[in-house]
Amino acid sequence: MSVEQKYYIETYGCQMNVADSEVVAAIMEKQGYTYSATTEGADLILINTCSIRDNAEQRVHGRLDALNHLKKKRKGMMIGVIGCMAERMGESLLKKSITTDFVVGPDAYRDLPYVIDKARTGEKSFSLQLSKEETYQEITPVHLGDNKISTFVSIMRGCDKFCSYCIVPYTRGRERSRESESIINEVLAAKELGFKEVTLLGQNVNSYRYKTKDTNEVLGFGRLLEKVALAAPDIRIRFSTSHPKDINDELLEIIAQYPNLCKFIHLPVQSGSSRMLDLMNRRYTREWYLERIAAIKRIIPDCSITTDIMCGFCGETEEDHQETLSLMREVGFDFAYMFKYSERPGTYAARNCTDDVPEDVKNRRLDEIIALQQVISGESNQNDIGKVFEVLVEGESKRSADFYYGRNSQNKVMVFPKGNTQAGQLVMVKATSCTSATLIGELVE
Ligand code: 5AD
Ligand code: SF4
Repeated sequence: MSVEQKYYIETYGCQMNVADSEVVAAIMEKQGYTYSATTEGADLILINTCSIRDNAEQRVHGRLDALNHLKKKRKGMMIGVIGCMAERMGESLLKKSITTDFVVGPDAYRDLPYVIDKARTGEKSFSLQLSKEETYQEITPVHLGDNKISTFVSIMRGCDKFCSYCIVPYTRGRERSRESESIINEVLAAKELGFKEVTLLGQNVNSYRYKTKDTNEVLGFGRLLEKVALAAPDIRIRFSTSHPKDINDELLEIIAQYPNLCKFIHLPVQSGSSRMLDLMNRRYTREWYLERIAAIKRIIPDCSITTDIMCGFCGETEEDHQETLSLMREVGFDFAYMFKYSERPGTYAARNCTDDVPEDVKNRRLDEIIALQQVISGESNQNDIGKVFEVLVEGESKRSADFYYGRNSQNKVMVFPKGNTQAGQLVMVKATSCTSATLIGELVE
């Protein structure tokens, strides 16, 4: 391969994919490829994909069709599909998409050089083996993109929960945790590069489990978080995603104890109906979830709580839907990602349940959920007016060059006049007004 070969990478889906693309970048650069920020001039295009809902996959199919003209213009250009959709569709994607030269699944990125070489010979190629061990832990990610303030560190991969609707256990395989030493080293390396905030990532971070090499101590997520908080006291630490079944008081107490652990918990509820939660195989009830919320509010009173909500799952009645709306009111989520159920081939639900809520009913329920959340988010922001928050300045506000934006510990975006501050600084900002999405404020001493 000549040295001036350039790769371009486009990422769809969750934060885990964003982190994975940075591991892939490291693998490509080790092979001598250089990064291209656009498709123009790229010899190799990688599309890191998501399978969580059908519309996520449709977007990628559309993108692949659109890329076909580029490929015709540029001889020798290759296009690879990586990530969850590669894993789910495998060779059938190579047949369906004439644009795609190779597919590589989330646990097989080390095979990329070999797969690409094979594809160069004109043979469509793939690597899809899932692994029980792979964590890419000794690969130092290449930080892509413009954000030089906040970055991700992956602490575990895969998911063993098997919620009945979810494709993730099939595309990302079994749960496995990364060595705590390598996690801390990566956080410290990010700090050396000037990053001020790190989000520890995993499909289900509460299941983190690792036996340290030196002391043979078995670390759960709480103790890992504590170790990271102590090792990098001037770095803000966030984490995502937690499972309601496994979030315990020990963890909440650790979050409360360390100022650099952000007071922010994303705790996907999915539904407010215990009957639906059971059908979803979520392993908790409405009451369990509400008790965990009460524990968060008790132990970390200034914690913000966000969630994922899904409507229209198999058999969901109007009553179930009303229970979701009432749970949303009861908790008062600061923010929510809201979805309608999309059947995923191969999941338990696709094999055993009927996707029987009509599309128009799903849409109406989703609209109601979104409308309610907008009111609740607005109230949550109204509640913050007059309060002073520590904000990590991230950059210039899109609306005005005179303003900066940043986030407070609770992960709320705050916009304020620049004053004498700079991106990357921690400043104190008093909230003076708000929209349903943003707090507007002023700097205070
Ligand atoms: N359909 C719709 N939403 C889904 N999610 C997961 N699987 C599906 C599906 N089949 C949602 C859940 C999860 C978030 C990442 O995506 O709310 O928490
Ligand atoms: Fe999917 Fe459930 Fe695992 Fe989340 S916890 S990734 S929803 S199986």
